[in-house]
Amino acid sequence: MTEKFSRGLEGVIAAESALTYIDGQKGILAYVGIPIEELAEHSTFEETVFLLLHQRLPTRAELQKLSEELANQRPLPAPVAAILKVLPCQASPMSLLRTAVSVLGHFDPQADDTSPQALRAKAIKLIAQMATLTATIGRLRQNQEPIPPHPTLSHSANFLYMLTGKEPAGFAARVFDVALILQADHEFPASTFASLVVASTLTDTYSAISAALGALKGPLHGGASEQVVRMIREIGEPANAEQYITDKLASHERIMGFGHRVYKTYDPRARILKKYSQKLAEQAQDTRLFEIEQIVEKTVIDALGSRGIFPNVDFYSGTVCYYLGIEPALLTPIFAVSRIAGWMAHIIEYLADNRLFRPTTRYVGPPLGHYIPMDKRT
Ligand code: ACO
Repeated sequence: MTEKFSRGLEGVIAAESALTYIDGQKGILAYVGIPIEELAEHSTFEETVFLLLHQRLPTRAELQKLSEELANQRPLPAPVAAILKVLPCQASPMSLLRTAVSVLGHFDPQADDTSPQALRAKAIKLIAQMATLTATIGRLRQNQEPIPPHPTLSHSANFLYMLTGKEPAGFAARVFDVALILQADHEFPASTFASLVVASTLTDTYSAISAALGALKGPLHGGASEQVVRMIREIGEPANAEQYITDKLASHERIMGFGHRVYKTYDPRARILKKYSQKLAEQAQDTRLFEIEQIVEKTVIDALGSRGIFPNVDFYSGTVCYYLGIEPALLTPIFAVSRIAGWMAHIIEYLADNRLFRPTTRYVGPPLGHYIPMDKRT
């Protein structure tokens, strides 16, 4: 076998998938062949979940059934909610979420069942409960009592309701829904790959999703959006933005929310979120953050666009959530609220024709030798 090596597996095809198509040069993203722009315009998160899990759009009756199943699965097992209350509420929300998902597994008798039916049932449960867990963590962080899920609101509206205690206005719920649609899947990022590596051992699904959450937490992956909001706040005023970015670039610092392993042009998800971010800013009559972002975007593209570095999805997801009144620390957990759909769809697809992931390394250590007894070591 010819020896191939690619650091970080860059450019390596590690599996076949019918879920997500990306053309990183042209900035095209499609789920099961449907362009992301059309899904953002016409679909809902629930419908996107069906699309990813079944690789086709649902009928009206199928969508209704899936929406009801998701709503039925929203409440957490009481001990899981109780455990969250005894954990330190100011710990990293992603670490809390990872722990909570791991604990959820103990209450699912199907945790180890890798049959397609059991995997689909777990997908519904995890998609529903990732939202409840995240909202619960959000409430506890503010020293507020968790709010039980609403049985009839949509997935997105219910999430905002559980977080704030208020039924959201139609536009806010729609923007949040679009954000969830946009982040629901993205082919093979570190988190999805991590979940598949773990799932390919035929271990329980909760272990695979805990691994995905651990990977998503990192600042080079889902953790960037939180840092974007922090950066924009640090900049403070539009007048400071250009100099701030120029100084960062001069000291070879990475600008969070820019660059992507796959996209070498504008991330199509960022383009959609930018539009909503602007609308929210105008509605709120508070455009300062959005204005800072425009200057940051222009300064980075002027400096690095020729090298294929443009805004990624994390750049605008932060401000969208800011205008929706969501604290930055919840941005990565919210990414998981959406991406759990893609993780589960990939696990279902991959396990239908499973092959254990087991790559190899190129050995660069000392040549084969012998054990040296202690008194002969220098
Ligand atoms: N700011 C400044 N320079 C950058 C940035 C950035 N955001 N991204 C890449 N570069 C530069 C690197 O410094 C490097 O320069 P060099 O060749 O002079 O050393 C060059 O571009 C290539 O960088 P790599 O890390 O090799 O590119 P890669 O394709 O692996 O990067 C990554 C992808 C990790 C996302 C990177 O662009 C980055 O660190 N971005 C900031 C973090 C971020 O926004 N992450 C979210 C990604 S989207 C998501 O996961 C949902």
